Amino acid sequence: MTTAQPSSPPSGIIRISDHEFSTLVQFVHSKYGIDLSQKRLLIEGRLSQTLRNKHLSSFKEYLEILFHDKSGSEMTLLLNKITTNHSYFARENEHFDFLMQHILPYMEKTRKNRDLRTWSAGCSAGQEAYNIAMAYDQYFGARKTGWDTTILATDISQNVLGKARRAVYPSNNLTDVPPAWRQQYFKTLPSGDFQVCDKIRKEVVFKVFNLMDPFQFKKPFDIIFCRNVMIYFDAPTTERLINKFYEVTAPGGYLCIGHSEVINKDSTKYQYVMPAIYQRSER
Ligand SMILES: C[S@@+](CC[C@H](N)C(=O)[O-])C[C@H]1O[C@@H](n2cnc3c(N)ncnc32)[C@H](O)[C@@H]1O
Repeated sequence: MTTAQPSSPPSGIIRISDHEFSTLVQFVHSKYGIDLSQKRLLIEGRLSQTLRNKHLSSFKEYLEILFHDKSGSEMTLLLNKITTNHSYFARENEHFDFLMQHILPYMEKTRKNRDLRTWSAGCSAGQEAYNIAMAYDQYFGARKTGWDTTILATDISQNVLGKARRAVYPSNNLTDVPPAWRQQYFKTLPSGDFQVCDKIRKEVVFKVFNLMDPFQFKKPFDIIFCRNVMIYFDAPTTERLINKFYEVTAPGGYLCIGHSEVINKDSTKYQYVMPAIYQRSER
């Protein structure tokens, strides 16, 4: 089996030994739930430059720095490197259609306090959360007065949250956005990029949050989006996370997951509604 190999200057890739690799895999899994066990090449590929920037020639030295860094900045840097944050507007649009046609009419009828609590968990650069805010604006229109529809959007990557707060996207992120929405909710910047309009931006609050941490929220959520995040996690981690979501879902509230993700129906209390949509019973 492979053991520590010296750095390999021609390709610029620094090799990670079996021991260093399993130490890193276990650490990231226990802290963030992310399963890197099949991602050796990705780790070497994405972190070699980081090591060189720090004038380190081995992962051994890097791990020592990572594990002893109390500031958290090394971990932040690592997370920015290893997470895949691909996202775009109107992704898995069936969710937004279902939201406007079924979930919102139900919420409008049942949430008498006009407080609609939504969480975009694993929000990446904010496309999903802004998309939800646009759907709310379309649905409520003038009836929105008196409703609090603020959306909480969280991610572990500081990097993507910075982008989310700026709300600036290249045009290829908007390919599937209907022209009317493009006109209504985005402004074109001189660079040719698009920025989400202020009315929608102020509906979303972005925060750093690790989904592996305990959930301590003041009130339960009516709608939780956690799409294309659990692809990172192994089955037991996913099952624990779904149970945690259930505990913070209000009666009658919904959970939307990615269409390539599955919830084992024998191990969840959510009721299946349609592909990638689940509901907590009303009582
Ligand atoms: C592929 S993006 C999905 C973005 C969006 N939900 C969508 O479907 O387009 C996955 C996001 O999950 C985040 N993530 C991964 N593990 C996480 C964890 N333990 N806690 C919070 N966010 C996490 C990543 O940083 C990444 O931004």
